[in-house]
Amino acid sequence: MKKLPLLMLVITAVLAKTSLAGEPSPERQSTLRNMLNHDCGACHGLTLKGGLGPALLPEALAGKPDEFLVSTILSGRKGTAMPPWQQFISHDEAIWLVGILRNSEKQNLSETSK
Ligand code: HEC
Repeated sequence: MKKLPLLMLVITAVLAKTSLAGEPSPERQSTLRNMLNHDCGACHGLTLKGGLGPALLPEALAGKPDEFLVSTILSGRKGTAMPPWQQFISHDEAIWLVGILRNSEKQNLSETSK
């Protein structure tokens, strides 16, 4: 329990840093890319072509509004296997992730996924 204030301080510092930067730090970007491969990839497929969850490739997401995809990532979808990620991913990070998903060059997942 004594460690809690320190933990809160660290979390606040980390959150403040990511929201000020607008874009996640390089280290955080690689963590998020790893998550995309391993955690999201578990359902959406290693190369995000779809599995238990639908494909998250740029073509599949075209026409779906950013805010819709961001809220899907943060809150999940009730009644489906898509879980909420807001404990692990901030709003800015979700926006950044959607940007990655929309850009196949930035996705560049096949290189890191094996
Ligand atoms: C336990 C399985 C599972 C995991 C893990 C998972 N998803 Fe999903 N996801 C789903 C399912 C199933 C759907 C489809 C929900 C529906 O039927 O509307 C979905 C839908 C989505 C959508 C909306 C796609 C669309 O076309 O509307 C996005 C974006 C998405 N997931 C991103 C992610 C991201 C990013 C991660 C990792 C942080 C992730 N998902 C992890 C199962 C998962």
